[in-house]
Amino acid sequence: MSDDKPQGLARGLTHYGDAGFALFLRRSFARSMGYSTALLAEPTIGIASAASDLNNCHRHFPELIDAVKRGVLAAGGLPLAFPTISLGEVFLHPTSLMYRNLMAMDVEEMCRAQPLDAVVLVGGCDKTVPAQLMGAASAGVPAIGLVAGPMLTARHDGERLGACTDCRRFWAKFRSDEIDRTTLDRVETKLATTAGTCAVMGTASTMACVAEALGMLLPGTAAIPAVHADRLRAAEATGRAAVALARSRLTIDRIVTPAAVENALKVLLAIGGSTNAIIHLTAIAGRLGIPVSLKHLNELSDATPVLVDLKPTGAHYMEDFFAAGGMSAVLHELKPLLDLDCLTVTGERLAERLAAPPEGVDRAIIRTLAAPFTPAGGLVALFGSLAPNGAILKRSAADARLFERTGRAVVFSSPSDLAARIDDPALDVEPDDFLIMQNAGPKSGYGMPEAGYLPIPARLARAGVKDMVRISDARMSGTAYGTVVLHVSPEAAIGGPLALVQTGDRIRLSVRERSLDLEVDTAVLARRKAQWRASPLPPRGYQRLYAERVLQAEEGCDFDFLRSATR
Ligand code: FES
Repeated sequence: MSDDKPQGLARGLTHYGDAGFALFLRRSFARSMGYSTALLAEPTIGIASAASDLNNCHRHFPELIDAVKRGVLAAGGLPLAFPTISLGEVFLHPTSLMYRNLMAMDVEEMCRAQPLDAVVLVGGCDKTVPAQLMGAASAGVPAIGLVAGPMLTARHDGERLGACTDCRRFWAKFRSDEIDRTTLDRVETKLATTAGTCAVMGTASTMACVAEALGMLLPGTAAIPAVHADRLRAAEATGRAAVALARSRLTIDRIVTPAAVENALKVLLAIGGSTNAIIHLTAIAGRLGIPVSLKHLNELSDATPVLVDLKPTGAHYMEDFFAAGGMSAVLHELKPLLDLDCLTVTGERLAERLAAPPEGVDRAIIRTLAAPFTPAGGLVALFGSLAPNGAILKRSAADARLFERTGRAVVFSSPSDLAARIDDPALDVEPDDFLIMQNAGPKSGYGMPEAGYLPIPARLARAGVKDMVRISDARMSGTAYGTVVLHVSPEAAIGGPLALVQTGDRIRLSVRERSLDLEVDTAVLARRKAQWRASPLPPRGYQRLYAERVLQAEEGCDFDFLRSATR
């Protein structure tokens, strides 16, 4: 190994006032685990496991971690698995994003506190991969990611189903009385039928692809289905690669560079990825002092076509993407747009990785740069008097007929207010109105939930309305779709312009001009602002810390004290 710090179990000794005694004690206790003297002298490879009985997406982790250990042992390392917080997306209240920073702190501190020469980060479900990359980046330990891989699809009456775009589609059918409760109950048993992350290009799969684009996963491993034997082979190979990393001391700051972040942004656009990934990539880059600008995102979006035909924007599922060539095919196609000098976790540069073209690419699913799925990127940032610091729209998942219009605001003051009134038959709302939700941002107490996909009011849904302009400071699931403007910043809970909108106001949306404006006289807004009052902070604990220190969406919703100074 190339650095001159103590290695293996001799790293980071416990303070007893006598270093020799501390090492003697540590080795004595390590022997109680039954390891041989020879193995205890090998590089220590931590395996940070986000396994949990409250995370269905990770239910195959015991087998996956065994395969990582196999690889570590075969390469001459000592594998040491340890648990971290897990974030099972649908099992957390108020929302998993609130706990991403807590998990990142857990990963960072355990990577730093324990005697690890390198670490394998085993995650997958939505916020776990960003949390692990954020934590490992701050800890500065050599690290490599291994993702859960996507679920397989199932069938319902001959139709293919997969979590969770189809969850939303069938729920919308139920709300509009197209299907009954019995059918819904049958569908419930078919949506998530294997281990692994959501079966579409939602946040988990997007972050897996982004992690591979950053160079933090072994090549070609982002999209291998969770239950495919190749995933176990990838786990074994990741274990071997971690031992090589322990020897090379290649750290994340040399892999996740400004050029690598720009590559990852282009990949995010080209795969029609989740809006959440902008927040996560900004947070990961922020740990290394790399800024991500939403204005620059717009420049990249105009120059980066969507190459894949995958749900929620297209027709296919992640298992099809893997079979079609996966990330190797996407990266190869994007080669002219990428910085090929970037290092990957294997020590190879992107140019070396992409030297040979992939074989057998299915062009029905992964298109060429010359004949893309859509000519411009999937995401755009909007700015204007309603969102001075930006908002995000996934235009590839939206109805382009709603892109240039002015609408009447129908305002809900919070997610709870929305839930209470959206289906009220007396609600004054028409299909051309803009549905507005306030107080769902990072500091709102709701923790910026994936509630930005406001349901179409039941009365309108039953009348056949499928999409409306919806605007909030919330997020949206990566598996969702619709003309949904998200991440409005500054958020309502800190008195941003969104807090001042009232039902009946006019709002102008122009995707062409990348603008979002509240057409209310400034004197009227000043009067409303003078009357606005912030809600009290949570009284104690992590929720108090979160509300006090979380940053806005354009800064990745990280804690202010965890970001690094700009490089
Ligand atoms: Fe885990 Fe979707 S619920 S990835």
